[in-house]
Amino acid sequence: MTAHAARTGIWFIGARGSVATTATAGCAAIAAGLHPPTGMVTETPPFTDTGLPPLTSLVFGGHDTLDCPLPKRAEVLAAGGVLPHGLPSAVGAELAAAEAEIRSGGPLPGDTRTDEELITAFAADIADFTRRNELARTVVVNVASTEPAPGEDDPRLPASSLYAAAALRAGCPYANFTPSTGLRSPRLQDAVDSCGLPHAGRDGKTGQTLLRSVLAPMFVQRALPVRAWSGTNLLGGGDGAALADPAAAAAKNAGKERVLADTLGAAPEGEVHIDDVPAMGDWKTAWDHIAFDGFLGSRMILQTIWQGCDSALAAPLVLDLARLLARSHETGLTGPRPELGFYFKDPDGGASALSEQYEALLAFAGRLRAAR
Ligand SMILES: NC(=O)c1ccc[n+]([C@@H]2O[C@H](COP(=O)([O-])OP(=O)(O)OC[C@H]3O[C@@H](n4cnc5c(N)ncnc54)[C@H](O)[C@@H]3O)[C@@H](O)[C@H]2O)c1
Repeated sequence: MTAHAARTGIWFIGARGSVATTATAGCAAIAAGLHPPTGMVTETPPFTDTGLPPLTSLVFGGHDTLDCPLPKRAEVLAAGGVLPHGLPSAVGAELAAAEAEIRSGGPLPGDTRTDEELITAFAADIADFTRRNELARTVVVNVASTEPAPGEDDPRLPASSLYAAAALRAGCPYANFTPSTGLRSPRLQDAVDSCGLPHAGRDGKTGQTLLRSVLAPMFVQRALPVRAWSGTNLLGGGDGAALADPAAAAAKNAGKERVLADTLGAAPEGEVHIDDVPAMGDWKTAWDHIAFDGFLGSRMILQTIWQGCDSALAAPLVLDLARLLARSHETGLTGPRPELGFYFKDPDGGASALSEQYEALLAFAGRLRAAR
């Protein structure tokens, strides 16, 4: 194998968004030794010698429907404090290289192409990227804006499913970091069953749901019945704007509530709300209010406040997922990977408690190491 053939592609759907830009700039910064790999689980000792592609071997490209060039997008994120001041210029060459590999996505308003034509065009873009860069493989990761759940009678596939179908057609492992449909369309079932590719989803677990997947098992283990679990999220940025659409927010909230229903045995009373607060930019405040019963029926309350930078939470996980799926592909693993449930709100089966999901991930690391 040549040095070039050992490089691995990461193809972002939504390549100019906050998460993709932070992942692209962050990978370059870590590879150059400018920052430690904080938040990257695959850079911790249990993943040593598992054969994951090195961060220095990753090549970035993707689709987006937005025109703003990646270096400019990185400057905007640095001005908002998401990326460290000066980082966009320090990794300017890498951002420019990734920008040169971004292709126009779709469907754009007025686009007359059929679903089949769009899938063919997207798959050709991905295959061309892999071939020109002489990559060993390319992992496709969906980090595009959350789309509303499609109606059952909708004659068209949602954009996320067009891209997911294109990924399979181009022979690429696929991860869906968003709540959008992606591979989980009944109309893609045959293609998914016969693809022979590893894939994982859906919706990255980075903040409020991460905390829920730790706290809910605690209540169960301490025999403290949860009476109600309510949550509110305040966030801005592109994600906040997209989730201001009630249909998109419903897709997101279903995943947040699923972890409670799975862990507690039934969904408790209470709802999750998402408010768009543009002034907060990429920062999110998530407040949870948990009412539970104690000994002899005494009523108690736990409240948590999570304040995080959304893209800084998501980017290392996106890099982790891409590396783990690339290595899965290299070792010949196929189909949904429940071992990666640690990363998702709505995983492909497996446990719902974070501690059990982490154990499954460590066992998976052992399996990847043994395949060397
Ligand atoms: N902590 C987190 O940040 C987190 C956690 C879980 C899930 N997510 C999900 O990740 C996704 C990205 O979040 P973000 O903050 O980067 O959002 P963002 O709005 O900054 O970026 C989304 C990008 O997708 C692009 N896009 C929209 N429609 C497209 C299409 N049809 N084809 C190609 N590109 C398209 C937009 O132009 C934009 O550049 C969202 O769906 C969000 O819900 C984020």
